[in-house]
Amino acid sequence: MKLAIIGTGSVGRALGTGWAQKGHTVIFGSRHPDEEKVQQILTAAGENARAVLPDVAAAEAEVVVLAVPGTAVAATIPTLGNLSGKILIDATNPITPGLQLAVGHTTSGAEQVAALVPGAHVVKAFNTTGAENMANPLYHGEPITMFICGDDAAAKTAVSQLAQDLGFDVADVGRLDKARLLEPMALVWISLAMPQGLGRDIAFKLVRR
Ligand SMILES: NC(=O)c1ccc[n+]([C@@H]2O[C@H](COP(=O)([O-])OP(=O)(O)OC[C@H]3O[C@@H](n4cnc5c(N)ncnc54)[C@H](OP(=O)(O)O)[C@@H]3O)[C@@H](O)[C@H]2O)c1
Repeated sequence: MKLAIIGTGSVGRALGTGWAQKGHTVIFGSRHPDEEKVQQILTAAGENARAVLPDVAAAEAEVVVLAVPGTAVAATIPTLGNLSGKILIDATNPITPGLQLAVGHTTSGAEQVAALVPGAHVVKAFNTTGAENMANPLYHGEPITMFICGDDAAAKTAVSQLAQDLGFDVADVGRLDKARLLEPMALVWISLAMPQGLGRDIAFKLVRR
């Protein structure tokens, strides 16, 4: 698929590099595509990746991945042009500098994103685990779980496949309003990893029998 990754931080780098190495066309959308940091990502990602400004990346792609700070989401979306008909993966978390949720219970960051781009098929994904786990989702050879939600079945099928391409198991939690559960879940991961001191090599896995 043709994927635009908006943001070249930890998440953008992990997802974009992984997908490029799996044969997807990855277009990083960066405010500074010529910066050394971005060039280093391109070197790691290989021949299937390039970097341009965010609006150019979004225009070319079938799937747009939002991987910017939660505080930058509202300002970033209007810079991306017309996203109608595209799949928009919201990997962001609406977290304050004090590690609290900025919104919750009656809405979610993902629903706020969907309200800003009503024509896009928004899927919440890649927000409940650390970027290192996106680069390597295997623990003792077993895939960890990527929890997703969204209102469009075809978009969720496509996002599930993209997560599986990276090596994840996928659990579809339901409609987009379930992002009200997945965003706090990210804070569970963060609380365990940092304040509770378990470190970043931890992950959620749904077990079945
Ligand atoms: N880090 C994790 O483990 C993790 C895991 C799950 C979800 N998340 C969520 O995913 C999102 C991205 O996280 P991240 O850790 O990749 O963030 P990050 O390392 O801070 O990178 C965010 C990127 O967004 C772009 N950006 C656009 N507008 C920006 C602005 N106003 N200020 C700063 N950067 C801006 C920048 O790329 P350009 O300079 O190239 O434009 C920047 O490199 C966040 O919402 C975070 O909560 C993070």
